[in-house]
Amino acid sequence: MRYFVTGGAGFIGSNLCDRLLQKGNDVTCYDNFSTGKDNFLVEAKKSPNFRLIKGDLLDEKLLESSIAGHDFVFHLAANADVRFGTNHPRRDLEQNTIVTFNVLEAMRKNGMNKIAFSSTGSIYGEAGVIPTPEDSPFPIQTSLYGASKLACEGLISAYAEGFGFQGWIFRFVSILGERYTHGHVYDFYQKLKSDPNKMQVLGNGRQKKSYLYIQDCLDAIFIALDKANEKVNIFNLGTREYCEVNNSIQWLCESLGAQPKLEYTGGERGWIGDNPFIFLDTKKINSLGWKPKLSIREGILKTLEFLQNNEWVYKSIP
Ligand SMILES: NC(=O)c1ccc[n+]([C@@H]2O[C@H](COP(=O)([O-])OP(=O)(O)OC[C@H]3O[C@@H](n4cnc5c(N)ncnc54)[C@H](O)[C@@H]3O)[C@@H](O)[C@H]2O)c1
Repeated sequence: MRYFVTGGAGFIGSNLCDRLLQKGNDVTCYDNFSTGKDNFLVEAKKSPNFRLIKGDLLDEKLLESSIAGHDFVFHLAANADVRFGTNHPRRDLEQNTIVTFNVLEAMRKNGMNKIAFSSTGSIYGEAGVIPTPEDSPFPIQTSLYGASKLACEGLISAYAEGFGFQGWIFRFVSILGERYTHGHVYDFYQKLKSDPNKMQVLGNGRQKKSYLYIQDCLDAIFIALDKANEKVNIFNLGTREYCEVNNSIQWLCESLGAQPKLEYTGGERGWIGDNPFIFLDTKKINSLGWKPKLSIREGILKTLEFLQNNEWVYKSIP
């Protein structure tokens, strides 16, 4: 198969490209390198079946010509950081919703109709039902990121209805593992490196979160693509456990031998749109025979190990 992967130089996208190549596919990575890294493509570039296009999804002409001739699109490119939405209200709309429209249009014009999309548990806002199933009551949005991703899901469903597309929508919890470049493990390790004696924690540290290891996430995606064949297939992807931010800090500190004095900024939420309790119901994907191999703790420690062995990641991000 010939796969087109938007955001293929990013954390999740580059791991996905490697997997697709290992399975013997042709892969085109389309990325503007806003957060993606050339270093993450070292393995992929060794394959004759890999092609890299440095381009922006807002460049409709380049996108349309680049996407032609592929069988399937993985659309992962996005502004993936939920935290700073209110600092730049246009970014999530443009980098998430508009580019998704551009991808769908480019596909339609080229007679393509199969797309997998990386959505997020953030679309549930502060869910009333926990663990939150895919058919939970329609959520009130608490972040521009979540709102923009929900709009993308809506567009994919509408293209399925209107133009015969088939979509696989994955609502991830926070993903952990090799090539991780943003999120709480990244921030805490950076803070502890600069001062192991004290550390600021956003919120009260009691926020409850669920996480999933990247290779488990990719296993789940491939099982869903193999076994789910509706017009629109929506899956929560996460572990059947959660932890408090404080648990995570404890595991990181134990592993680093650090005993920092913790300074909490206070309140139930670390930032606007921070969800104090994210825990997704994963029975639907579990029923297809998937379960994660790594626990949250194991995923967090693997992520720390990656960051310790790849200090260049910190230097590469302004
Ligand atoms: N990492 C997580 O915990 C998590 C959780 C839920 C959902 N997601 C979603 O998964 C996807 C991948 O996330 P990630 O963590 O790998 O993020 P990432 O920032 O590492 O990857 C995003 C990639 O998209 C590229 N990109 C961004 N805007 C682009 C544009 N306009 N044109 C071309 N390329 C562009 C970036 O350069 C980068 O390589 C995103 O859609 C994100 O919203 C991630």
